Amino acid sequence: MPSPLILVNLKNYTEGTGNRAHLIANAAQLVAHESGVIIGVAPTYIDLHPISHHFSVPVYAQHVDGSEPGAHTGQITADALRVAGATGSLINHSERRLTLAEIDAAVKALKVKGLVSVICTNNESTSAAAAALGPDYVAIEPPELIGSGVSVSKANPAIIRNSVAAVHAVNPNVKVLTGAGIQSGECVKIARDLGTDGVLLASSVVKSKEPGVVLRDLVSKL
Ligand code: G3P
Repeated sequence: MPSPLILVNLKNYTEGTGNRAHLIANAAQLVAHESGVIIGVAPTYIDLHPISHHFSVPVYAQHVDGSEPGAHTGQITADALRVAGATGSLINHSERRLTLAEIDAAVKALKVKGLVSVICTNNESTSAAAAALGPDYVAIEPPELIGSGVSVSKANPAIIRNSVAAVHAVNPNVKVLTGAGIQSGECVKIARDLGTDGVLLASSVVKSKEPGVVLRDLVSKL
């Protein structure tokens, strides 16, 4: 069975920027090596190239635009992400929502460059709609639980189970992540047992004084 993906979104937390981004990527690399679990990080654009250059972990952008390279000031192209060493990108995160057309264009742009697409969604129906666009992953995150310290795995297992079913009914090849409040190995195990291919998380790792300790706990029941 392939390893699940533990994807740590560093957002724009002070504790996930600059030297701290390096510290978290280093911890991710170490724990991934020890456990055999794939642990990716999604740093700010500023930190993306240094992190991909210095560490052997999958590096994701937090957003990508569907634009071609060229005269598009301020846009983040899939081509620039590929050159910077990214593995893929989040799309439509709860804190960076897009139109359906923009999500579609972003998925296509990543595909052309051979990069992995992770569309974030907020419920079962948007998860099904996202699956119809053919991304690599759909990541279901109930917005009310994001950053709350209350785990989706425990507070709303039904949304995970139903989203996995909704996504696979549309396209069985699309993998499913879940996130919001994920903080322990138990949360990850519940998510896996409900049929997901991993988790998307942020604050429990990024804000920890010892990210490596939290990461070790996250993979402990896999
Ligand atoms: O992108 C992951 C995120 O939205 C979940 O955040 O802090 O609840 O793990 P958090």
